[in-house]
Amino acid sequence: MSDQPDGVKPLVALTIDGKPVQVPRGTTIWEAALEAGIEIPALCHSPRLRPVGVCRLCVVDIGERVLVASCLRPCEEGMEVLASSPEVEGHRKRLTALLMADYHQDHSVEKGRAISSGEDLLLTLAERYGPENPYPKGRHDRPRQDLSSQVIAVNHQLCILCDRCIRACDEVQCNHIIGRTGKGNAARIAFDLDLPMGTSGCVSCGECMAVCPTAALTNKRPGASPRPGGKEA
Ligand code: FES
Repeated sequence: MSDQPDGVKPLVALTIDGKPVQVPRGTTIWEAALEAGIEIPALCHSPRLRPVGVCRLCVVDIGERVLVASCLRPCEEGMEVLASSPEVEGHRKRLTALLMADYHQDHSVEKGRAISSGEDLLLTLAERYGPENPYPKGRHDRPRQDLSSQVIAVNHQLCILCDRCIRACDEVQCNHIIGRTGKGNAARIAFDLDLPMGTSGCVSCGECMAVCPTAALTNKRPGASPRPGGKEA
């Protein structure tokens, strides 16, 4: 570990895919990789939100018994991180296929794009990992849409329950409107005590649309972006 002046966090040195990296102690592997220009896919994580490690898309190999979620795991001195080994990529491919099986009428990206009116990180991953999907189509016991809001369209069948919108509503905007309801196949996001979005306390700030990694929450106004720059990665 490197010595630093008082008040400055000590640096830890590690390698990510063989590339030497030095970051302040407490930096996660995902953040260190981003800084080093190494892309690790993430669905549930956004740099503005507290990491929760729900989707497991960001897993990496650090030589432990199991792959670890890079959005949660802090860097350690001497760590040798494999962020894109065949095993890691194989895991991401399987996970993407499972999410796609649960996502839409069939597994095709084309059909997904046809109903996804916004940017969709999951479909982008599905394109990256190829069209073949060995898993049977999942079952949804969720309502399909909630169009009660003047501004935001909700498509529950495109929601992957990553909780980004819940954390954005709570942590970024402090509105505390979005939560979860239901169990198993019926689990879905809900507004206040499960009201239609348009009659809930939602103030249409757009934060949930901006962080949603799929097209589950989109802007109803054609051509409008929820915020400058549109959806974040
Ligand atoms: S991005 Fe790390 S677990 Fe989802």
